[in-house]
Amino acid sequence: MNAYEKRIALVYEYLERSYLEEEVAGYYSGRTVLVTGGAGAIGSNLIIALSRLVGDNGKVLVLDNLSAIKTRDPWNVTPLPNIMFVLGDVRNDVDLKRVFKEEPSIVFHLAAFFANQNSVDYTETSAEVDVIGHIKLLEYSKIIGLDKFIYASSGCAIYGSYPELPLKEEFVSMHLTTPYQINKMAGEMYCNFYNHHYDLPTVNCRFFNSYGPGEVPGQYRNVIPNFIYWAMKGIPLPITGTGEETRDFTYVLDLVQGLVKAGFYSTAIGESLNLASGREIKIRDLVEKVIEATGNKADIIFKERRKWDTKPRLLASIDKARQLIGYEPIVDFDEGFQSNIEWFEDNWEKIEEVADFPPGMSSAVRCGEMLQCSVGVLK
Ligand SMILES: NC(=O)c1ccc[n+]([C@@H]2O[C@H](COP(=O)([O-])OP(=O)(O)OC[C@H]3O[C@@H](n4cnc5c(N)ncnc54)[C@H](O)[C@@H]3O)[C@@H](O)[C@H]2O)c1
Repeated sequence: MNAYEKRIALVYEYLERSYLEEEVAGYYSGRTVLVTGGAGAIGSNLIIALSRLVGDNGKVLVLDNLSAIKTRDPWNVTPLPNIMFVLGDVRNDVDLKRVFKEEPSIVFHLAAFFANQNSVDYTETSAEVDVIGHIKLLEYSKIIGLDKFIYASSGCAIYGSYPELPLKEEFVSMHLTTPYQINKMAGEMYCNFYNHHYDLPTVNCRFFNSYGPGEVPGQYRNVIPNFIYWAMKGIPLPITGTGEETRDFTYVLDLVQGLVKAGFYSTAIGESLNLASGREIKIRDLVEKVIEATGNKADIIFKERRKWDTKPRLLASIDKARQLIGYEPIVDFDEGFQSNIEWFEDNWEKIEEVADFPPGMSSAVRCGEMLQCSVGVLK
């Protein structure tokens, strides 16, 4: 099997295991659906699942400007006959008209200027994409009329500093620490406005640290793909903090399950739902796993925590999503992590080509500098 075939098989096997196909049979079949950010870490998995669910008479439109992997080659979009890739920007009316002309009945809005540090470094662009682009999508959706508008929100963004654990949807904090978090909060509020004022059936899905196949490492990316990448290159792993910090790492196909169910169940309309694993993993334990899986012999480096990174622990309650849409994560961390490693191995050439760690400003940059210097030492 080639890398695409393996990825398709992984998603199909997940759909079967989670009884997702049976549950939503008929609902997605024959539909046209739009996924913004469908070339990204989560979207590239979602589109494979949707391709299967909409079937031969349906269509999955992908709108993505490929900015996350800084290439014009949509290699992370699995070529399937009913997936139509449109290279375009959520801020651009011409691109939006192009996809809305196809009359999607469900929109999954995943495109974003990812993520915290990126938004600190490029605050205006982050608002242009995550707020203005988001409003444009809501406007077009309102005009054509939709069955569902699913918004990719973020647990780390919404809950602010020092909430009680596990994080419950009712908790609201105005103490957000990055423009990305502010934009995601605004994104939910715009969804709520379009829902209340125009009856647009919106759902806010709050993801927690995704991992698994599809996420290309880079300066602004999540810790798991970056650790795997550095470890596979034999480079020391930087821990920002003490390593005792925890995160609610969620396997990407469990998130896909939540998204598909949020698109299906009308009980989700107008709601905000945590989509997470509901279990904590210590960064220190993650590092051990990465080292074991890759045989990396390089050291661990402790670095200062980034100023905006004020959450020593993250753990979500998934009770509401369980209740309203029957969400149930089914992949344990070891299994999900193994599939992440295999995706790296299968796609290593492409990943090396596009992984982006330029030296430059602020904390993400300090990583970049460290990386360069380590490469130097290894030579
Ligand atoms: N990955 C996580 O851990 C996580 C956690 C919480 C929330 N989220 C949210 O989930 C969504 C998907 O996350 P992801 O990890 O797949 O991110 P990603 O960066 O991998 O994917 C986002 C995609 O959007 C595209 N994009 C960026 N700007 C665009 C624009 N102006 N027009 C069109 N396309 C554009 C990028 O090229 C990328 O392919 C995002 O909205 C993100 O904020 C992700």
